[in-house]
Amino acid sequence: MRLNCNINGSQYSLVVNSDKPLSVILREQVLAFAENSQCQGAQCGNCLVLINGSAALSCLIPAFKLNGASILTFEGFQKTRFCHDIERAYADIGNQPCPQCYPSKTIIIESILNKIDKENQSRISGFRIGSGGHPELSQNQQNDSSANEQAARSRSGTGSISSELIAQEMAMSSCQCIELSDLEKIINLAYKYRSRRRARRS
Ligand code: FES
Repeated sequence: MRLNCNINGSQYSLVVNSDKPLSVILREQVLAFAENSQCQGAQCGNCLVLINGSAALSCLIPAFKLNGASILTFEGFQKTRFCHDIERAYADIGNQPCPQCYPSKTIIIESILNKIDKENQSRISGFRIGSGGHPELSQNQQNDSSANEQAARSRSGTGSISSELIAQEMAMSSCQCIELSDLEKIINLAYKYRSRRRARRS
């Protein structure tokens, strides 16, 4: 099959077997993929990548599921400013994943931040359309509400972050080098940095 997808910001058009796992495609075709695999699949978590913003084990994703996907390996993600938010949070909390799982845990944290973002965005747009029988807000009121919500999120960090979500996503990486409570602090802080950066730009 022909696979058209974006990998680390570059467009690829590859001829591959439709069942070939993404981890193998990346290893064979993309230089920027230093996966440090320790297993035969679904055990170590070292092959994690971002697919359309969500963490996924690349050893389990076949090519036929990837047409049109946007894929980021850790090497590609490291070059983005989003990675810097997480690195800053590691430094400020004074803890970070061990070298073995640093790439995969960082990818998972980014995936969690994206999920929180989506949740917050849908909460804001649900409020805007006046769902649930409430009268619709005027454009000015909508802008005020949105700005207030944005400001509140910037002040309080993620707001909607749940320990269950973190535990669920972190289960993709088998390494237990860092406490869940520290990961929660890191995610909160990284989200705060990201929100501040966005607020400065808007
Ligand atoms: S290679 Fe170990 S989980 Fe994918």
